[in-house]
Amino acid sequence: MPKLYIETVGCQMNMLDSELVVASLRRQGYQLVATPREADTILFNTCSVRQHAEDKIYSALGRLKHAKRTHPEKIIGVLGCMAQKDQQLIFDRAPYVDLIVGPGQLHQIPKLLEEIAAGGGRRMEVSLDRTEGNRTQVERSFESYDPLRDEEMRPSPYQAFVRIMIGCDKFCTYCIVPTVRGPEQSRPTAQIEAEVGKLADEGCREITLLGQTVNSYRHTADGRATRLSDLIERLHATEGIDRIKFVTNYPKDMTDDLLQAVRDLSKCSHYLHVPCQSGSNDVLRRMKRGYTVEEYREMLARLRETIPDAAVTSDWIVGFCGETDEDFQATADLVREGRFKNSFIFKYSPRPGTKADERFSDDVPEDVKRRRNNRLLEIQNQISEDDNQAFLGREMTVLVEGPSKTSRKRAGIARGDHDDRGEILQLTGRTNCDRIVVFDGHPRLIGRFIPVTVYDANAFTLFAGVVTRHVGPEVYSLR
Ligand code: 5AD
Ligand code: SF4
Repeated sequence: MPKLYIETVGCQMNMLDSELVVASLRRQGYQLVATPREADTILFNTCSVRQHAEDKIYSALGRLKHAKRTHPEKIIGVLGCMAQKDQQLIFDRAPYVDLIVGPGQLHQIPKLLEEIAAGGGRRMEVSLDRTEGNRTQVERSFESYDPLRDEEMRPSPYQAFVRIMIGCDKFCTYCIVPTVRGPEQSRPTAQIEAEVGKLADEGCREITLLGQTVNSYRHTADGRATRLSDLIERLHATEGIDRIKFVTNYPKDMTDDLLQAVRDLSKCSHYLHVPCQSGSNDVLRRMKRGYTVEEYREMLARLRETIPDAAVTSDWIVGFCGETDEDFQATADLVREGRFKNSFIFKYSPRPGTKADERFSDDVPEDVKRRRNNRLLEIQNQISEDDNQAFLGREMTVLVEGPSKTSRKRAGIARGDHDDRGEILQLTGRTNCDRIVVFDGHPRLIGRFIPVTVYDANAFTLFAGVVTRHVGPEVYSLR
């Protein structure tokens, strides 16, 4: 039985891709192992969004040079965004790599591994560059990878990512995604519905719809267009699915029909990730984000008016080309004003092949980027902590995800697993507004929606106790 090791960096789309690749290889008889040393096949599913993510993979590859020399039969593969971006360059930098597969060609992996194992030599399968053909040709070269789901192959049987679109057409000037993940393409509604139906049959309770700009989803069949709000309404009818989330939203496509769907459909999580990137109009213009600060504010006000208890999160890039102290101050002000549940903050990292890299100079020194990053984090953490304090004493419903990091570490078990000795464990779950809650409980609670009461809170976590009501087992409400 061949042994497989896979390392994944990057976004949720990559996590889903890895899950599906692992599932398809397990069906071929591969067994998943925990270290590269034990493995016959070592795969890296990579990210190109920042230089740091690429450096990590090149150093991991470097560490395998010796292993490959002593065990030439080991197969080493690079998948995902960096494979699509660097292509042949990976073979040049690490000649002992056997396989390079871009995110639009993942379906080929089992066949390619078989060919390599049979002595066919190294293989590379990538999609077309966006200038290498007309739109249809390029689209066809990026295939959405969505093989049939299998309950046993998922990290958690109760939660699943569901891809609803691939690629991106927004071309923000700093971003490599439209190049490496190709043109924006929405999956057919019927296909998504069938996949969600199967997940529900397998006992899945929560789905997270994925797309680079998920709220730009639009699929036309028989002359009728389905928007994200329509799709959610259809998925909402799936019995067994009790929570629906979607990421990542593009601010300009945050339309009223979508906000109203989230408000009116009880299974929708009141959690919305809507990256703003900067609080300065000059910077937003150079980023080509397609909106002004005023428009983002208007969107946020509309969102809060429609869904008053919504938890909103955002991404921010600090130190983008030409960002002045005043620009940064404007971002800090917007972070304060927006009262986000959480902010993901990144230092600008120039990406070769993007417009920003071509046109502007990366002129904010690294230590200024670092300082701005830390300052923004400080502001956000204070807000997160203050807002979390408001939950003290409140009863909330959580979907129990599994043992907390602490108890997993203590027991030496992976996410999604738990030993069945029936002891009380420290468990973790999430509220309808996507807040992480930690509490002690019996492992049989995993995969259920239960009420808990919050007794402590910091910026990142709510600490709670399980509420026990002595009235039959199925009274737990869903929200
Ligand atoms: N440098 C830094 N951050 C970036 N992001 C995307 N491209 C870059 C880049 N070149 C950030 C954006 C995006 C998140 C996923 O990553 O904030 O929303
Ligand atoms: Fe990148 Fe902008 Fe597309 Fe997001 S919307 S993936 S930041 S190009």
